[in-house]
Amino acid sequence: MADNYLGRKMEEYEAQKCASVRTRRVSLRSLLMRNRSTRGFDTSFKVRHDQLLSLVEAARLTPSAMNQQVLRYRLVTEEEAHLILPHIRLGGALPELHLPAEGTEPNAFVVICTDKESRYVDMDMGIATQTILLRAVEMGLNGVCIAAFDHEAVRVALQLPIAPQLILAIGRSNERIEVVDIAEGDSTTYYRKGDTHYVPKLRTEDLIIR
Ligand SMILES: Cc1cc2nc3c(=O)[nH]c(=O)nc-3n(C[C@H](O)[C@H](O)[C@H](O)COP(=O)(O)O)c2cc1C
Repeated sequence: MADNYLGRKMEEYEAQKCASVRTRRVSLRSLLMRNRSTRGFDTSFKVRHDQLLSLVEAARLTPSAMNQQVLRYRLVTEEEAHLILPHIRLGGALPELHLPAEGTEPNAFVVICTDKESRYVDMDMGIATQTILLRAVEMGLNGVCIAAFDHEAVRVALQLPIAPQLILAIGRSNERIEVVDIAEGDSTTYYRKGDTHYVPKLRTEDLIIR
């Protein structure tokens, strides 16, 4: 407890800072709910290089098997997006929609690369990927993992010195997406009705082995 004026003011200031941090805190659950795979973007919003860099800053802090840190990241902003767009496939379960719809294409990407082969690489990549996506959501952006892409074409187009493994498209979503609870045995395939994209997720109790 400070017994002088300046000390008291300092305490009040720190207390206010804590209170405002508390009210602005976003729960992990709300980030997870908003972290839906997004295949339609607001093209008027241009993702900046520094925003992509901040996603990799988050990935830097993730666990890594034997701490080998074998992943590298190529950041792609609007000027280079045309090099990737022809080589990715979005919404494989909805081929009739030819996603992304014209005028909703992503204009930024994080291309995750590695030449290392070990059974841990995919685990590292999964952890880094989800961290990047959650950080994007925290920043008001969304993304989608893209494994369905022409690896050689992307490697050549971006002149990558190491192999691209997974592409994350990043941008401001223009989609309406909802999670639907399902039970074991129900279809897990995502679908669209009207303007809404539905993502079936198994209920927690069905995930538990008894
Ligand atoms: C490793 C991985 C690869 C994926 N590849 C693609 C892809 O190539 N194209 C695509 O449209 N979605 C892709 N997805 C997104 C999934 O379809 C999506 O995660 C799933 O439908 C569940 O939706 P949610 O992410 O909103 O929960 C991929 C997801 C993961 C984890």
